[in-house]
Amino acid sequence: MELIYEGKAKRVYRLNNERLVMEFKDEVTAFDGLRKEVAIGKGRLAAAQTAFFMSYLEGNGVRTHFIDWDGDRRITVRALRMVPIEVIVRNYAYGSFLKRMPMVKPLTRFSKPLVEFHLKSDELHDPLLTMDDITEAGLLTREELQEIINTSLRVNDLLTNLLSTRGLILVDFKLEFGFDGSGRLLLADEMSGDTMRILRNGKHLDKELFRKGASAMDLVKAYAELNALLGVKS
Ligand SMILES: Nc1ncnc2c1ncn2[C@@H]1O[C@H](COP(=O)(O)OP(=O)(O)O)[C@@H](O)[C@H]1O
Ligand SMILES: [Mg+2]
Repeated sequence: MELIYEGKAKRVYRLNNERLVMEFKDEVTAFDGLRKEVAIGKGRLAAAQTAFFMSYLEGNGVRTHFIDWDGDRRITVRALRMVPIEVIVRNYAYGSFLKRMPMVKPLTRFSKPLVEFHLKSDELHDPLLTMDDITEAGLLTREELQEIINTSLRVNDLLTNLLSTRGLILVDFKLEFGFDGSGRLLLADEMSGDTMRILRNGKHLDKELFRKGASAMDLVKAYAELNALLGVKS
């Protein structure tokens, strides 16, 4: 298979015209790649989480790019034309929200889930975008943007409920979307501890642990704990 892209968390290979293979690295990065460590076992755990969450969403009527998981670090997905935007859904105040709104106390619960958009650009540090920015730049139409918002909120409802049955709190998460050959919007990329903040009794079972200074090994343990709680086979 031809390696077509290497990002911070994954390698992307072309399987054929319609399909890609995404390989999750045994590596963890934070602060735009400034802190980077080897994390043996993380790739498989994050691939398993992505397979688990995306299969669950598919089962509940959300279209995703996920096709299958090899039981290790690789998943097969539909090749999409990606929208260069990160969609963030927030239930509680955390992360970059607190940076731009320092008057809000950490982990304040919002009156409703917030949806926001960031340009996917490491050099520009993923700047916040308005809906007008997105439509005027021609990245999406109003209708497509609204569809993304609706899907993101539906994903939030489904995941919040699923996680709450295991005593877990979904603080926030990041989604990416892409268009398939027929112009349909599909949920893409990954859904793992790298892209979701999940709390258990106040403890992070996500990458925030590493951002806060925990070792790569403690992060792998937290991902394994999350998978055990969710009944994710890994
Ligand atoms: N179904 C898909 N088709 C094409 N590209 C995808 C798909 N799903 C995810 N991607 C892209 O593949 C890359 C995954 O690698 P990653 O390590 O997350 O990169 P990055 O450091 O750019 O976030 C991302 O650029 C992501 O947007
Ligand atoms: Mg990424």
